[in-house]
Amino acid sequence: MTFLVTAGPTREPLDPVRFISNRSSGRMGYALAAAALESGHEVVLISGPVCIPAPQGAQLIRVTTADEMADAVQTRMDTGCDVFIMCAAVADFKPRDVSPRKLKKSDGLPHIELVPTRDILASVTLPRDRRVVVVGFSAESEDLARNAQKKLREKNCDFICANDITRMDTGFDADQNELTLFFRDGSQRHFPRDSKLNLARDIVKICIAIAENR
Ligand code: CTP
Repeated sequence: MTFLVTAGPTREPLDPVRFISNRSSGRMGYALAAAALESGHEVVLISGPVCIPAPQGAQLIRVTTADEMADAVQTRMDTGCDVFIMCAAVADFKPRDVSPRKLKKSDGLPHIELVPTRDILASVTLPRDRRVVVVGFSAESEDLARNAQKKLREKNCDFICANDITRMDTGFDADQNELTLFFRDGSQRHFPRDSKLNLARDIVKICIAIAENR
C-alpha cells in the first residue's frame, strides 16, 4: 500500500525574514511514516520545515507554506494512494500581503491583515472510488471529544486522532503522545501515553485493517 503522510508545521511569511508558524516538531508525522515503512509499505512524506531526519525509504517532499502543502497533497493524491494521514499542523491564517522587503521598525507597528489558509483535509479531492482511508488529527485544548467528532464529520475522515495540547509532556513538540481515536460509527479508542512511534504503529495497523476491508 502507499501511505501519503503530512507532517510538521507550515510557515506563512510576512516579509523575507518573518513568518507565522506553530510549535509542531513533525515527530508524530515522521513516526507514522517510519511505522508504515517498517510494515513494508510505500510512504510519501510531505513535510513542513522541521529539524528531524526523514525516515529512510520515505519519498520526502519538502514544503513551506499551507498553499504549497495543499498543492503537493493534491498532486500526490491524484497519482494514487491507499491511506492519507493529515498529521501536519497547518497554519490556519496567513498574512494577506507579503512584503517583498523587510518591514522596518522605523516604519512603526505594521498593520497585518490575516486571511484563512485553505483547509487541506476538508478540501482535498479524493479519487472518485473513495477507497482511500482518510485520517485526520485534532489538536484540542478544551472539549476534546466534541471538537474531534465535529472535525471527523466536517472533514470527512475515516477516523480522527485527538490529543490534548494543554499537556506539556505529550503532544506538540514532545517525544510522547496520548491519543483518543474517534471513528465514523461513533466508537472511540483511547491510547494511553506512549512513544510517538508505538502510537504510530497502532494507527498504521488500524489504517491497514480499514483499507483491507474496503
Ligand atoms: N488541517 C488542514 N488544513 C488546515 C488546517 C487543518 O488540513 N488549514 C487539518 C490538520 O492537519 C488536522 C485537522 O485538519 O488533520 C484538524 O486540525 P486542527 O488544527 O486540530 O483543527 P482546525 O480545523 O484547524 O480547527 P481549530 O484550529 O479551530 O481547532
